Amino acid sequence: MRTELSFATLAGIETELLAVLATDTQTAKGPDAKPAPLLLTNDKAVQAAAAAVLASGEYKAGANETLLLHAPAGLKAKRLLIVGVGKQAKVTVHSVRNAAGTATRFAKPRAIRELTFALPVADSLPIGPSMRAAVEGAFVGDFDPDTYRSDRKDLSVRSFTVAAGAGADKSAVEVAFGEGVIVGESQNFTRSLVNEPGNKLTPTIFGQRAAAMAQEAGLACEVYSTEKLHELKMGAFWSVSQGSAEPPALIVMRYEPKGVTDGPVLGLVGKGITFDSGGISLKPGDNMEKMKYDMAGGAAMMGAMRAIALLKPNVRVIGIVCASENMPDGKAQKPGDVQTAMSGKTIEIINTDAEGRLVLADGLSYAKQLGATHLIDAATLTGACVVALGMINAGAFSNDDATFDKFNEALATSGEKFWRLPLGDEYADMIKSDIGDIKNTGGRWGGAITAAEFLKVFAEDTPWIHLDIAGMAWVEESKPYIAKGPSGVAVRSILEWVRSYGK
Ligand code: BES
Ligand code: MN
Ligand code: ZN
Repeated sequence: MRTELSFATLAGIETELLAVLATDTQTAKGPDAKPAPLLLTNDKAVQAAAAAVLASGEYKAGANETLLLHAPAGLKAKRLLIVGVGKQAKVTVHSVRNAAGTATRFAKPRAIRELTFALPVADSLPIGPSMRAAVEGAFVGDFDPDTYRSDRKDLSVRSFTVAAGAGADKSAVEVAFGEGVIVGESQNFTRSLVNEPGNKLTPTIFGQRAAAMAQEAGLACEVYSTEKLHELKMGAFWSVSQGSAEPPALIVMRYEPKGVTDGPVLGLVGKGITFDSGGISLKPGDNMEKMKYDMAGGAAMMGAMRAIALLKPNVRVIGIVCASENMPDGKAQKPGDVQTAMSGKTIEIINTDAEGRLVLADGLSYAKQLGATHLIDAATLTGACVVALGMINAGAFSNDDATFDKFNEALATSGEKFWRLPLGDEYADMIKSDIGDIKNTGGRWGGAITAAEFLKVFAEDTPWIHLDIAGMAWVEESKPYIAKGPSGVAVRSILEWVRSYGK
């Protein structure tokens, strides 16, 4: 998708489709209350073109509710699309992100390949953040997952223009626009990886994709395999890989801005299970195909590293992805086995399906060995997290309030929903082992928390955040602004958290 920025007046823009936002200002309640949509533009010609239909009472401007006018009077645009952002009091830049996605997804099935999005004008919508959100939203909306369909029609929007308005502060708007492109493309890069089936994206291929991205974005990148795992004594990581015919990949990406030699080193660690069958503790067949997206945490780290490389914050960052399959085999690990992690801690394997925490344990230790002073991990780690928070919020955990506060602030920019869940010694007790130091499951209750407690053992005293994105990495039902399929969750939030250390 090509993106452009325009400072022309809306009425004069020649385009296949001009999208303008509207908010619902209705305050009266009851069956007779008439819809009161308000266009979020100062352009008199656009207001005139939409006046009659907005007065008709047929359109409410509910969130992502659309209304199309052909040949709008007084405008050079061929079509005028009004996209609702819902109740006026609740409108935020995140509504703008979704509205831009909705406009894009409106255009695609109608083979409208080019559209212009009018940046909304409202007191509650700061221009820079709205601009960035609009561009991100357009990229999010443009993505469809049907890459292997042989009769696939490429319906991507070819050209997306944001009309910032004639009076806009050019330099501020240009910076935000550029950021939106980088972030939107990076999130879609992550989504395209998550979308790949396990046979097309083995750990080795995952490593190759990381290396190619790193080369393009200007990151240092090394991809290791079995030998390196043995050399580093990554007994936890290897225990997951040992039962697979596909070798593991230990992917290390480094962002080292020139002149930055002290201050924090941020370690980003992602779970990269390219297929999770459960191993010997085999999963039931129903929905097992979904477990191709068990590398979404790793892919999120790659997308974040891409955006970091291009946006160049003043802080050093190391990205580590622990990529492996989890398969049953004669060589696979068994329940009851005891493994020794890189840190020296011994782990009793209760359930081979609790594999994510095993690969992450050694990934966290390695990030620390490479100098990370702060850690963040992302993983499709537990079904229990989905039970707790549904598919609305992802889970978040931390051993350090100050570090978590920074992450929470990042959410205001990213618009992503993470809910902090507790840790505590009583939960840590649930993963004590009779034979070794810890066991890899803590029973049925509080499963997302005991998984986090397991990781905390390896983060040790280093400030650390754990993101459980099991319920959020895959969109189960299409929405007006995003297709069913991989979401790219966590890329934007991790990026903003990183930037908060080096702006
Ligand atoms: N990859 C799964 C978790 C998952 C579940 C991701 C649903 C996405 C959607 C993970 O490896 C797993 O199998 N976890 C087990 C842990 C249990 C054995 C303690 C689970 O959640 O059931
Ligand atoms: Mn599993
Ligand atoms: Zn898994």
